[in-house]
This record gives sequence, C-alpha cells and structure tokens, in this order.
Amino acid sequence: MTALLNNVRTLAIVCSQWGDTGKGKFVDYFAHEWADIIARGTGGANAGHTIEAGGKRLIVHLVPSGIMCPGKINVIGNGVVLDPRQLARELSELRAGNIDYEDRLIIAQNAKLVLPQHLVLDKMRGIVAGKGKIGTTGRGIGPAYAHYYDRFGLFVNDLLNRDVFVDRLDQNLAECKALLKGYDRPDELKKIMSKPDLGSGMFYSAKDIFDRDNIVAAYLASARELESMVTDTDAFLRESVGRKNILAEGAQGLLLSILFGTYPFVTSSDCSDQGLATGIGLRHRDIDKTLAIVKAFLMTRVGEGAFPTEMGGAKSAFWCGGEAERIAREEGFSSVEEMEVAKYSSLKWDEPNEFLLGIISRLTGKEFGATTHRPRRPGWLDLPLLRYAVHVTGNTDIILTKLDVMGMCPVIKVCNEYEYIGPVYRIGQRTLQSGDRLKVAIPRDDVLKHCRPIYREFPGWMCDIRGITSERDLPLDLKALICFVERETGTHAKILSVGPDREHTIFSN
Ligand code: GDP
Ligand code: IMO
Ligand code: MG
Repeated sequence: MTALLNNVRTLAIVCSQWGDTGKGKFVDYFAHEWADIIARGTGGANAGHTIEAGGKRLIVHLVPSGIMCPGKINVIGNGVVLDPRQLARELSELRAGNIDYEDRLIIAQNAKLVLPQHLVLDKMRGIVAGKGKIGTTGRGIGPAYAHYYDRFGLFVNDLLNRDVFVDRLDQNLAECKALLKGYDRPDELKKIMSKPDLGSGMFYSAKDIFDRDNIVAAYLASARELESMVTDTDAFLRESVGRKNILAEGAQGLLLSILFGTYPFVTSSDCSDQGLATGIGLRHRDIDKTLAIVKAFLMTRVGEGAFPTEMGGAKSAFWCGGEAERIAREEGFSSVEEMEVAKYSSLKWDEPNEFLLGIISRLTGKEFGATTHRPRRPGWLDLPLLRYAVHVTGNTDIILTKLDVMGMCPVIKVCNEYEYIGPVYRIGQRTLQSGDRLKVAIPRDDVLKHCRPIYREFPGWMCDIRGITSERDLPLDLKALICFVERETGTHAKILSVGPDREHTIFSN
C-alpha cells in the first residue's frame, strides 16, 4: 500500500461500472489504513455501501463509509442530495450498533435537500413512464437534482432558518402539485403516500395533495438532530488539501453517470471522479490518485437499460425487473433472495442454461440490492464498456473485486468486442451498420441494446481463493485472465479483492 499511495494526499475511490462493486469495502479499508477525512460528494440514499470488518456488517446510504473507523472525520459534501429523515434513521442505526459518530460527521450547508415530494415524483414517474421506466431506487434522487438545476430546490442550510424553509418549501410544493395534478392519478398518489418511507400518509392531504404543515414539522424536527453538524465543508476540505489524507468516496458508477453513463438509464449526478471532486468542494486536479473499481468476473446492473452480456438476456431482465418479486410475494417468501435460495440452491455450476447460471452467480455473489433488495442482473465482464470507461476518465489503476465469486465456474466468458446488429444508426459523422464490430462501447441505450457480445472463453480456476493473501498464490488460470483484462483495456490491477472483509485484500506487485 505504501508504494501505491506514495505522495498521495487526496485519493478518490470510484466505480467504472454500474455500481455495487465494493466501494464501501474499499473506502472502509483506506479509512482504516490511511485516511484522516472521508468525504461523500455525489448521489444520495440511492447508494447502498456495505462494510464488513471485525465481524461487523454495516450498510450505509448517506453516511460515508469511513464511519466505522474511530477518530476519522466523515463529510457529506455539497453534491449530495440529502434526505434528513433518512439520515436520522441511519444515525439511529449507528447508535444501536454502538458506532460513535459524535464530532466526526459533518454535513455541507450547501448539500441539496430531498423532501417527500421528491420521493412522490420519483415513484409516480416510475408508474406513468411505461416503457421508458428507469427503474430508480425511488429515493427522490432525480427530482431533487432536477429541482436544484431548475432553480427551485432547497439547501440543507434552509432547515436552519424556519421562515426561509417554509417559503422555499411552498414554492417547491406549488411546482410539484402542478406536475402531479397533470398526471391525474389520485388513487396511485394516495397509495404511494401511504407507504412507510413517506411517513405512512402523514404528508398526504386529500384536499391539497401535500400536508405542508406536517412536512414542516417533520423536517424541522429531524433538522434539530442534524443542525450541529451543518457547516461549510467546502472550506474545510479546501483547507485540508495537501495537509490531511483525504479519501473521496464515490457513489454509483461511471456507467450510471448523468454525463458519461448509458443515458437515459442513469442516475442524476456525475459519478466520475471529476463530479466527485466538485461534490466535495475541490478541483479535479486536487485528486492525486483515483482507484476505479471493476467487478469481475461477474458484473451486475440494477434497474432498467441495455446490458449486452446479461446472463439469460431478456428473461433475466424481466425476472429481475419485477417478476421475481411478484412471484416471491405470491408464494409467501419474504424476499426474492429467500425464494431463490429455496428454489435454486441445488443448481450446479455446469448448468447449460445461462439464465439459471445467472441465478447461481447471483446467489454465490449475494448480488441483491443493498438499498432496494432487488436481485441484481448478472452478466459476464464487458470489456467494450470498460474500455469506454478508461477512455473517458483515464483511470487506469483499478481494483478488481469479487474475484472469489466465480471460483467454481468451469468456463469464464469475457466479452472482448460487440457485433452491432441493429438498424443503420448515425452517431455524429459515424454510421453504424449491422455487422460492424465495436471494441469500445458507445454508451447510448439505442446502440447498446443492439450489440451482440463476442466472447473469449477461459478455463475457470475451480477453487476457493478467499484464504489467499498473496498474488503469488493465486491460481494460474485466474492470473492469466487478469493479465488479459489488463492488456486489453490498458489497465493495471493494483488491488485484488477475494472476499467482503478488509482482510480479503491483496496488493498486486
Ligand atoms: P458498493 O455500492 O460499491 O459499496 O457495493 P455494495 O455494498 O452495494 O455491494 C458489494 C457487495 O459485495 C457487498 O455485499 C460487499 O460486502 C461485497 N464484497 C465486496 N468485495 C467483495 C469481494 O471481493 N468478494 C465478495 N464475495 N464480496 C465482496
Ligand atoms: P451504489 O453507490 C447500483 C441505479 C438504479 C437505477 C438508476 C437510477 O450502491 O453503487 P436513481 O434512484 O439513482 O434515480 O436510479 O441508477 N442506481 C444504482 N445501481 N448501485 C447504486 O449505488 C445505484 N444508485 C442508483 O437502480 O437503475
Ligand atoms: Mg451498492
């Protein structure tokens, strides 16, 4: 580690795929080993970051993943959309787990507020969108960012000034009500607002859609718990650059970035290290090193959008997009995971049906959403998408995670290029025709959904690698595969992760 972080004072950890690659694990790792300050700068409670250390397991959404490490300062930066009630819930979980955050958690005064109307709009859009549905986490992320950019959003700081808060809330609610009236779905609206995450109906008014006074009361109440943490974190971080070890914690992943991702099936923030720097009040050049996480050799996606290497293709997308949940509910299971464990645990790794192989992979990798508990869509590692991520970010130092998951799979497929099999498609001065080969993905859903993956097949290593602590001892077949990925994408795998715990971490020579 010392060599890797030589002369580094600000380190960013981001993801080069569709999220859920182990950012939580590695932010905790470097918080423990190296950082003084950990700062989140993008997204909101759509994130689900899992930390496993010292026999403890914690999932955080808004709280930065450095919180388990005593003495380290954790920052929620200006680029975050923050739901105070959600944060209050997380803080109570920390207290229940005896994790002391007193004087160690600070919140940007200029972070953006997520309010009940944002959750309502997010969920309502999921219903009215039909085919264009994004499959969001329902945490109000898109509407909160949209309102900020449309200049009628609220800041966390507004909670410190009652009159300002009420004024801006009224303006915001007026905009939201006009939209919701336009949707003309009063029954759906009532149903959405009776859910527990929307206060089980306390924010609903049959007459006026929103019970504004209850919103004011609830948000000012949760603000009282947070107000001592609200400060100018931008100034704090600027002043810390070069003096303290700063760890910038990414959320989501490059392919979900509003600027660089597979639009429109993306989130509403820029998940690149550049967006992350801005979201903690720094400049991109303040970041001395970025480590980009790549999950291999199983890659996943949650929500809608094209996924060329998905195991089981459209069937898997349908299953993970709601069908599995429907069946689980109908058959009395408490979750899709419980149902899949009950029905599919006995499947074997030489299963010829790729949809079923996807289920084995998901169960082995425990690939169920940390935020929504949705089954993550499983797929083979996609190098055209990785090449694209490397091209746009220049992030060649990578961390390969979850290498243990496919340990018993006899044949590992890696997509090395695509064959475009769609209609003639013009992109700038380029025209794609059926039969064209693509080595670098074009991150547009209209293109990706017509890309047929061309695979290279590799023999699996057929053993459990979790106990391995040195690169030297890894199976030769795995090492060959890692070299192939590095060579094909121009990356360097600096760290190899062979399990969820801090200890399951191997630094490469
Ligand atoms: P994040 O959103 O990027 O922080 O990732 P998530 O926490 O949503 O999902 C990653 C999951 O993989 C978590 O359950 C981690 O505990 C787990 N994990 C991280 N690294 C490894 C690894 O190398 N092997 C295995 N088996 N699990 C890992
Ligand atoms: P972490 O930080 C995986 C996905 C959603 C949906 C799309 C838009 O844990 O890696 P949103 O609620 O953001 O408007 O949803 O983005 N998504 C994630 N997928 N990991 C995440 O975060 C995600 N955050 C959002 O599933 O497809
Ligand atoms: Mg996650």
